[in-house]
Amino acid sequence: MRILLYRSDGDTGPWAEDFAAALPHAETVAWREGVATPPCDYAAVWAPPPAMLADLARVKAVFLMGAGVDGLLKFGDALPDVPIVRLGDAGMGEQMADYVLHAVLRYFRRFDEYAQQARQGLWNPLAARDKAEFSVGVLGLGKLGVPVLQALRRQGFPVRGWSRTPKDLPHMACYAGMETLDAFLADTRVLVCMLPLTPDTNNLLDRARLSRLPQGAYLVNVARGALVAEPDLLALIRAGHIAGATLDVFRNEPLPAPHPFWDEPRITITPHVSALTLRGEAVRQIATKIRLLEQGETVADVVDRQRGY
Ligand code: NAP
Ligand code: GLV
Repeated sequence: MRILLYRSDGDTGPWAEDFAAALPHAETVAWREGVATPPCDYAAVWAPPPAMLADLARVKAVFLMGAGVDGLLKFGDALPDVPIVRLGDAGMGEQMADYVLHAVLRYFRRFDEYAQQARQGLWNPLAARDKAEFSVGVLGLGKLGVPVLQALRRQGFPVRGWSRTPKDLPHMACYAGMETLDAFLADTRVLVCMLPLTPDTNNLLDRARLSRLPQGAYLVNVARGALVAEPDLLALIRAGHIAGATLDVFRNEPLPAPHPFWDEPRITITPHVSALTLRGEAVRQIATKIRLLEQGETVADVVDRQRGY
């Protein structure tokens, strides 16, 4: 068996070693533009270039080395008709839960305001907040959204989730569909975005929707930058309607300099690290799925191209 590897950062060597350990009978081939690719059974890729699509057309399935599928589905009709399998959690849910819990606690306990005060040499205790009134709403109840909500609930925050199809999850209010979004936003003090980027979610959080959040709300975006209309968010922060945002993802990455987000003290920026691919877990999951496919079984996390995720 041969597995074709590609990563936009070029670092396929450690992946080849881990695949050799997980699937001893498989040979790996690092894809290179302009170099003939031998016939391969599967591909494992992250952010492949258009020139690779012809070789992807010849494999039995394409595995993504990440959870988001927008980097592949963006090729539209040019994408070969081959099953695409993304990572399902693979250690990302716990990382997301840590990241989001940190951001929510930072806002709830006003650490962002104390940091600002300390820079000005101010000793000024602020009023305590009531956790029961600090509701956290998570957009997206998938492999990563659910562990985030569970962690927030364990920490005592009132939680609510929003998805495309109806859900029934213990101890949390579940909303579904566009017609419920305004009501969901109106009672959400911290909005956490965990949605895939699709034609339906692109620019979902625009001025009108962000304005539905209560005065003094916060935004945490750990999904994709294009879900948020960036100039609208900045305007609402400057107007004082949104008290702060923690952003891990941006419409253009790396976030260019200059960009007004860099200069806005109420925006906290991290460089797309809220849930990193853990290579060991990823290879184990992909190897298990390859074995299942070889036995004629079905596998989880196959991308539905119509839905876009
Ligand atoms: P997932 O399991 O596919 O879950 C997606 C969730 O979004 C589902 O609950 C789905 O609803 C909901 N959804 C999709 N379209 C919707 C719409 N139009 N309206 C309402 N709800 C909608 O995805 P995941 O594994 O949790 O990952 C979520 C995203 O996180 C990924 O797509 C990726 O972009 C991002 N991510 C970011 C990082 C990072 O480091 N920043 C790392 C990993 C992933 P249904 O349940 O009804 O289908
Ligand atoms: C990272 O952003 C991923 O989608 O895995």
